[in-house]
Formats: sequence, C-alpha cells, structure tokens
Amino acid sequence: MQRTSQRGSAMADASITQLEGSPVEVPSAIDLRAEYVESGVKEVLDELDRDLIGLKPVKQRIKETAALLLVERARRRMGLAHETPTLHMSFSGNPGTGKTTVAMRMADLLHRLGYIRKGHLVSVTRDDLVGQYIGHTAPKTKEILKKAMGGVLFIDEAYYLHRQENERDYGQEAIEILLQVMENQRDDLVVILAGYADRMDKFFESNPGFRSRIAHHIDFPDYSSDELLSISETMLSKQNYTFDAEGRAIMADYIERRRQQPHFANARSIRNALDRARLRHANRLFEASNGPTDAAALSTITADDIRVSRVFSASSGEEKTP
Ligand SMILES: Nc1ncnc2c1ncn2[C@@H]1O[C@H](COP(=O)(O)OP(=O)(O)O)[C@@H](O)[C@H]1O
Ligand SMILES: [Mg+2]
Repeated sequence: MQRTSQRGSAMADASITQLEGSPVEVPSAIDLRAEYVESGVKEVLDELDRDLIGLKPVKQRIKETAALLLVERARRRMGLAHETPTLHMSFSGNPGTGKTTVAMRMADLLHRLGYIRKGHLVSVTRDDLVGQYIGHTAPKTKEILKKAMGGVLFIDEAYYLHRQENERDYGQEAIEILLQVMENQRDDLVVILAGYADRMDKFFESNPGFRSRIAHHIDFPDYSSDELLSISETMLSKQNYTFDAEGRAIMADYIERRRQQPHFANARSIRNALDRARLRHANRLFEASNGPTDAAALSTITADDIRVSRVFSASSGEEKTP
C-alpha cells in the first residue's frame, strides 16, 4: 500500500539550503514569536489542536519539536549552528491512534520551517521497498526514495523490514540503503518509522543503526472511550451528519463493547462503524420513503442505525465479518 499526499503551503519559507547558498546578511536578532506566526507553524499547530481529539502528549511533543526547530533555524541564520539537525522520527502506537494523520501534519510543519523542500508524505510498507527476487530490492527502494525526496517517507510497520529468522532476507538490503540515505541526505528527506510500540522497541534493539539515526520518538496512546465518542461526533459532523440523543447514547455503548472485541483499532474502528451506520441509515430512509425526506432525516444517525451491529450480539470482532 503506497500513498502520497500533498498538503500545499502558501507560506513556505525559503529553504535553509538556499539561505546558506547565497550571501545573506546575518540578522542581529530574530523575533521568534513573529517567526512562529509568519512561518505558518502556528497555523499548523492550531489546526492540529482543533482537528484531532485527545492526543495530548503527542501534541505536546510536536510543539516542543516545533520550538526546537524554530530556534535551530534562528541559530543557523545567525551562524550559530551549521549541521542539519536529525529529524528522523519514530511513531509508536496501536492501529488507529493517529500516527499517519499526525505524520502528514508533521510533513507540513517541516516544510513550513524550510527543513524539507516539498512537504509531501509517501506512505509505504515492506512490500513497497523489498522485492521478491534477487536484484529487485535495490531498484524498488531507490524508486520510493526518489519519490519521497524533499518530503517525508513514512514506513508503516517498519519492523517487517527486518526478519531475524532469515539471514538472507532481502529486507536487509532495503535497510542498508535506507540507513545510508538517512545519513547522507538528511537535509532532503525525513524518515518516520511507525508501528506497534513493543515491536518497534525490538526492531531498534536489533537495528542500532536505525536507533542512532532517530532523534524523536513519539508514543501514541490508545484513546479513551470518551475520546472515541468525541472522535465519532467530529467525524460525523465533517460529513454533515449528527447523532440524535439516543443515537449518541448507543454509540457510547457500542464503543465500550467494541473495544473489548478482537481487531479493535481505535479511531479506525470508529470510522468503519460510522461508514456502516451511514449505510444502514440510507437503507432505512430508502425503505421507509413514500414522500419527501427532509434535511434533518437525511443527516441524523439514530439508535436504529447502530443497534443492529454485530457488536451487540457476536463476541467476535465486527471488522472481519461486517
Ligand atoms: N485524534 C483524532 N481525532 C479525530 N480523528 C482521528 C484522530 N486520530 C485518528 N483519527 C482518524 O482515524 C483514522 C485512523 O487514523 P490513522 O492516522 O490512520 O491511524 P494510524 O496511522 O495510527 O493507524 C483516520 O481516519 C484519522 O483521521
Ligand atoms: Mg497508519
């Protein structure tokens, strides 16, 4: 699975390489507050705060990282720092905790700060990097790296690159190429490794090369039930739907039950549940319609649209058998 996203940034600053290349005069002082606003970093952080429910520790870490990079940028302008800071990161947490979503915001942030030229995110898994046959891996990995240059390469479930049991696994070849690029082209590419916390830890243990190249580790906690309910309301409102009171109450019940069942994936499970609720809602309206249907009916998810979910009857996870 490979996806590319581009978040445009009208306020992109001049890149740091450009600043170094031309004989710019060294400012005697830099107004960090003004830089914070003018670079668009404030805007990205405000959006992050607004759009994403919960994630308090993650938001805090991103603010700290943004402050560090803003200061670093000011130091470089004044000739106080010369090295490109290491920006590679790891995002660990269970599925559906917002890692990919936050990585896209991070790409935007790094772009606005001038650390990457383009600010796009290329999301890959092992299969995008590693070939099946001898000689296939290097070209595959290099092709992806080419696409990601100037942006962020997001490697989901990064630990699958490494197969301990198989010494001659082609994953090793991809790892070596990645490590080299992470070192030598770190002013043009930021790599974010993501996956389950425990497996990421093990992966770093057996791949110290990765560990030493990663400066920022961010943990994504599971959402509380209240947060998941808020997330469900936010997701609905973005699509111009709402719960009625009973619908909201049964959604809360749904969340309690769903999180005990197999294949629970935090906000992703909520998204999937809402997709199915909208399907049932549409069918309910369609079956019942004999006359005009008003806007309120077209946009209200009721208890009926959720109650029939298997989550209320089966003990198995709904996602495998929708
Ligand atoms: N805190 C949040 N608030 C609102 N929506 C969220 C939040 N976290 C995740 N989502 C949504 O849940 C879905 C899964 O998130 P994603 O970033 O793909 O998780 P991960 O990469 O950790 O598996 C996406 O549709 C995302 O927009
Ligand atoms: Mg993801």
